[in-house]
Amino acid sequence: MEITFRPARHDETDRIAEIMFGEPPQEAVRVCESTERARRFGYMQVSTPELGLGWDRTVFALLDGEPVTVLQAGSQLGGFRVTPRLIWHTIRILGPLRTIRSLPYISAQRRVNAPAPEGSYHIAELHTHPDQRNRGLGRAALEYAEKQAHKECAPSMSLVTTVINPARHLYERQGFKVVETRTDVEYERMTGIPGRNLMVKELS
Ligand SMILES: CC(C)(COP(=O)(O)OP(=O)(O)OC[C@H]1O[C@@H](n2cnc3c(N)ncnc32)[C@H](O)[C@@H]1OP(=O)(O)O)[C@@H](O)C(=O)NCCC(=O)NCCS
Repeated sequence: MEITFRPARHDETDRIAEIMFGEPPQEAVRVCESTERARRFGYMQVSTPELGLGWDRTVFALLDGEPVTVLQAGSQLGGFRVTPRLIWHTIRILGPLRTIRSLPYISAQRRVNAPAPEGSYHIAELHTHPDQRNRGLGRAALEYAEKQAHKECAPSMSLVTTVINPARHLYERQGFKVVETRTDVEYERMTGIPGRNLMVKELS
């Protein structure tokens, strides 16, 4: 079993979306009000450049040559922008009423995301294809990210994850610590999840 890394190519959007949203996260399913809509919404996010979830942000971990893990990380990641195109696609996928119902999620999500430390190398997305989990790819991707963080002389690494995500154990094993937990009533009402943890690993 050989694990290697390479940047994704522009024609690999479908594979990125399949890895990230083939099994959509609970929050997306709740906000989109169905697994299938959450999947379609996820595919749209990956293929909409201004959302910053696309191929140009992605490094794949490959298992024996097959891309199975998506890593999106860096010290200069911008947030997403609400553009007319995003609103149009959202209405197309969710319908007008669900789009209106989903709007409070945007601000609720901002409230539960504690800001990363200045200059930190931020892990924005880490996903392994459901069929290939628990084979060490997540750990390998975090080690790869740490090498990149050292190259960029980042003082720390950071990530945000929901308080219910079992990935916390993986991150703790790799030296991350929960430094802040933010909960929010509206976020919990919409997603069924009380809040999110900011986890940080100091680099020496
Ligand atoms: C988190 C994730 C990337 C880990 O990838 P992986 O290739 O399975 O990682 P590894 O094999 O190196 O490590 C497995 C560890 O992940 C943790 N883990 C995270 N989510 C898990 C899940 N749903 N089921 C089981 N283990 C999970 C466990 O700690 C597990 O090890 P342990 O059982 O010995 O404690 C993968 O579970 C995933 O894609 N989850 C869905 C997306 C997600 O939640 N991403 C993180 C957002 S911050």
